[in-house]
Amino acid sequence: MSNLSRLLKESWTLVEEQQDKLASHFYARMFLNNPQLRDLFPVQMDVQRSRLLGAIVTAVQTVDDPDRLDEYLRALGRDHRKFHVQPEHYDVVGDALMEALRTFGGDQWTLEFDQAWRDAYALIAAKMMEGADADADNPPYWHAEVLYHERRSRDIAVLTCRPMQPLEYRAGQYISVETRYQPRLWRAYSVANAPRKDGSLDFHVRAVGAGWVSSALVRRVQPGDMIRLGSPMGRMTLDRRSTRDIVCVAGGTGLAPIKALIEEMTRANRTRWVHVFFGARDRDDLYDLACLNRLAARYPWLSVVAATSADPDFPGEHGNISDVVSRYGPWRDHDFFVSGSAQMVRATMRTLAEMQVPAIRIKYDSFGDS
Ligand SMILES: Cc1cc2nc3c(=O)[nH]c(=O)nc-3n(C[C@H](O)[C@H](O)[C@H](O)COP(=O)(O)OP(=O)(O)OC[C@H]3O[C@@H](n4cnc5c(N)ncnc54)[C@H](O)[C@@H]3O)c2cc1C
Ligand code: HEM
Repeated sequence: MSNLSRLLKESWTLVEEQQDKLASHFYARMFLNNPQLRDLFPVQMDVQRSRLLGAIVTAVQTVDDPDRLDEYLRALGRDHRKFHVQPEHYDVVGDALMEALRTFGGDQWTLEFDQAWRDAYALIAAKMMEGADADADNPPYWHAEVLYHERRSRDIAVLTCRPMQPLEYRAGQYISVETRYQPRLWRAYSVANAPRKDGSLDFHVRAVGAGWVSSALVRRVQPGDMIRLGSPMGRMTLDRRSTRDIVCVAGGTGLAPIKALIEEMTRANRTRWVHVFFGARDRDDLYDLACLNRLAARYPWLSVVAATSADPDFPGEHGNISDVVSRYGPWRDHDFFVSGSAQMVRATMRTLAEMQVPAIRIKYDSFGDS
């Protein structure tokens, strides 16, 4: 661990237990210093659940791994154009962060800690601004028209939209989406198809509990509605140089990016076996199994195993999908794609570690904090 990283971690322990108060202070200070910034944030803003402060703290804490972070931060900066973030805003946010840290760090907050946070924030902000700068040829966000909307289960909808301007992305990436029902509230959704000539994009969305955006996308959005899309992000893309066979593990709507990757492979793959494991609570949530089975019948290199964890009569595999994957192993020489809830991704990563799959061969997207 570098000295910078050690200082950041050590200083964070001074404020960690007061995170809620720190967040309130941070936002209050930020909006006081620059009231116009309030308009960039969601209308119904719950400071404790707002994503900005937590995201900055996470980024700062991982600053030690610049290579891994570099591409992510550039993409994040590009994506922040959708919030109308300008270069001068980075100083306002940085100053509010430093003031909040000093206030809650109290007497034990040293000059050394202060400098460490300043340096780390400056490094991250610079990368994000570079990313935004390099993206000037693209719009800050895309307007898209919803073309189709199909309810596939109690909570799941598949929708197709078409951006008004070309939007380039790679199969496996995700894009943040905003609906007119919750202005300025953006959530990430994986594109569920490989790029098409007509530019249309599919999303598979599950409405979670009291979820703002997912409920709107599943229950309110209709064909003809306009939504807004941010710039594509994520590295769960196919490495075309690899010759290894592939295992895809999807939980629920975690199938979306996997479906995009399979579609990409239907255009070029002749040599790699692809094993898809698709898990859900019950058969109702295996909302796209019929389509997967059709693809498997058409492409001899593709096999599909479906499993339910709470549907005893389901005529397929039973149990958590991570356990099912392990029953079909060993998988030591495969490339892995894992996508689903944080819990499902964590369980699968554990299983793969136990099966001695090298971490470098696993690409994953977790739909929540993992
Ligand atoms: C990289 C990435 C890709 C994603 N791709 C998809 C996708 O293709 N399809 C898809 O359906 N979702 C996907 N998600 C999840 C999506 O971004 C939202 O987090 C989710 O739809 C909830 O948003 P919301 O605004 O409806 O809920 P919020 O208003 O943010 O949350 C409401 C409540 O639900 C809880 N909650 C949030 N998410 C979940 C969850 N996943 N399971 C259980 N409880 C939850 C929260 O803790 C909170 O209590 C992806 C997430 C990431 C990070
Ligand atoms: C080090 C600098 C920064 C980092 C690491 C960072 C990171 C993030 C991340 C990861 C998110 C959540 C992703 C999303 O909702 O799409 C987010 C949300 C957001 N960021 Fe940033 N950001 C930074 C600077 C800024 C600045 C300078 C502004 C300008 C005010 C800003 C405005 C926002 C807004 C408005 C949101 C949405 C908040 C919400 O929905 O609650 N960010 N940020």
